[in-house]
Amino acid sequence: MCGIVGYIGRRRALPILLGGIKNLEYRGYDSAGFAVVSRRGVESRKAVGRVARLEEKIGDPDRFPGTAGIIHSRWSTHGEVTEANAHPHADCRGRIWLAHNGIIENYKELKRALARTGHTFHSETDTEALAHLIEEFTIRTPGLAIEEAVRLALLSVRGTYGLVVLDRESPDKLVAARNFSPLLIGIGRGEYLVASDASAVLKHTKNVIYLDDGEMAVLTPREHTVWDLRRRPREKPLHEIEWTLEQAQKGGYSHFMLKEIFEQPEAIENALRGRLVPKDGHAQLGGLETVHERLAGAERLIIAACGTAYLAGRVGKYMLEACAGIPVEVDVASEFRYRAPVFRKGDVFLAISQSGETADTLAALREAREKGVPTFGIVNVVGSTIARETDAGIYQHAGPEIGVASTKAFTSQVAILALLALSLGRQRDLSLTQGQEFARDLARIPELMRRTLGVDDEVRRIAAACRDFKNFLFLGRKYNLPVALEGALKLKEVSYVHAEGYGAGEMKHGPIAMIDERFPSVCIAPRDSVYEKMVSNIEEIKARRGPVIAIATEGDQEMGAIADHTIFIPKAAEIFVPLLSVIPLQLFAYYFGVEHGHDVDRPRNLAKSVTVE
Ligand code: M6R
Repeated sequence: MCGIVGYIGRRRALPILLGGIKNLEYRGYDSAGFAVVSRRGVESRKAVGRVARLEEKIGDPDRFPGTAGIIHSRWSTHGEVTEANAHPHADCRGRIWLAHNGIIENYKELKRALARTGHTFHSETDTEALAHLIEEFTIRTPGLAIEEAVRLALLSVRGTYGLVVLDRESPDKLVAARNFSPLLIGIGRGEYLVASDASAVLKHTKNVIYLDDGEMAVLTPREHTVWDLRRRPREKPLHEIEWTLEQAQKGGYSHFMLKEIFEQPEAIENALRGRLVPKDGHAQLGGLETVHERLAGAERLIIAACGTAYLAGRVGKYMLEACAGIPVEVDVASEFRYRAPVFRKGDVFLAISQSGETADTLAALREAREKGVPTFGIVNVVGSTIARETDAGIYQHAGPEIGVASTKAFTSQVAILALLALSLGRQRDLSLTQGQEFARDLARIPELMRRTLGVDDEVRRIAAACRDFKNFLFLGRKYNLPVALEGALKLKEVSYVHAEGYGAGEMKHGPIAMIDERFPSVCIAPRDSVYEKMVSNIEEIKARRGPVIAIATEGDQEMGAIADHTIFIPKAAEIFVPLLSVIPLQLFAYYFGVEHGHDVDRPRNLAKSVTVE
């Protein structure tokens, strides 16, 4: 999510660091900072906003003579967007400087323990705890090599990291480490770069080493060594980057939309990490502590959101009603704000928004607040207006979503709503055994998503075969009705063809009149409690010569025989199927748009964040 670049060599580090980090800005950053070391000691500057703001603060980068340094552009996960929270973070003595991407899950425990031994903290971040922990090891063992202090600290850490450490006392070394957050080493002549993304090093070298999880590296201007956290040396193959800069920013994918579709398993892992507790059949939602009591006693939940976030809310309604027995109303925020909503004692309001800046969602939230209703949010962008104005909230940690068409934000919102359903359910009637089963099934979803993404080629072929159709009907029932609506929304957005989402049960009440051989239906028909009903609907379409593209459960030969095209998804608990069934629909919209030569990342007339009514 965040951008990291490190440099060590003979040249001045800062201009190289700035050039590298600017190539990572496509990821959408909110603050930036650097630290370089020279005979004058460590010099550091930070700024809120884009890297350009940091450059303004720096003035002439040649004023900073250090030939080793680190830079970071932050996409906040812990703590508001402030200078104090911007990286790099330092220890108490300004000796050890750290740039980090990822989440240190046990940072609160670490901070408490370190505070007891006299450490003082200056930020709200998880990262700062690690800087002090490394310091603690150097204090306990004077003369300890910095790489050993980093290694010992990492052994005490739970969570994810891609990180680079700069040490005032060892100005000829950078230490890098990786666990679930990408990090690579660029190998130049008499110099090394380390970065979270290849696009940051491409200008200087195409020769790279990719660190794997649990590995760390020590870089000096002359050599690099890699080993694992048990100090076993690792032989690392050298790779040559073949991408152009633009390709590298998209991680080799042709569009951000495709990249983000493929990032979904990781986005869900991030949403669940540290929250889902399968053995207790529970979900820990730390961000909701302040509204915990009111949520526990809530008699009704009111969800307001727009577009894809609204549709995630509609999946959430089914989940919350089924697991927690709590009545849920879901409204498009633009209606909610104008329809004089009636609030009752016992209501709790939930805003869902990827950007946290959508004008209508914000207005709905303010309306609820004004009426004294407790509010909370599910938001991706940390420190955004909705995140700040709600009483409490759950961050998605899905990483920046650049493509205008929302994909990973949707599944991540649904996953968090599932956690909420589990948490509220367990406070109500959901038994321990039911909770454990729910949690186990949810924990399997990222892996099942990875398998589902295997339909990519098949969907591309189907989209090409369907390229001349001008209208599509998307049908689903129960948990998959909102998914049908989302499939239609995606197709409209990126391919500009007419698509309608409908509850399959409503088809006979009107839309069936449109069906003929030129009007295809995309039917979401997994083997679930409404499967037989969906099969009947599909037969009705076929009887009218309507082409059918079915999304079905692996092994469902019956569906394979009825539909014109069948896309198979893995079997999953019914409640979580939307997290899988939406994937082929996202891919279908993507390939259909590409097939028609549209700019799928920036569809016409749309904006990523709708900050006007
Ligand atoms: O940032 P938000 O989640 O509040 O945005 C809400 C909608 O504008 C957004 O989901 C929109 O519908 C997407 N472009 C859909 O792909």
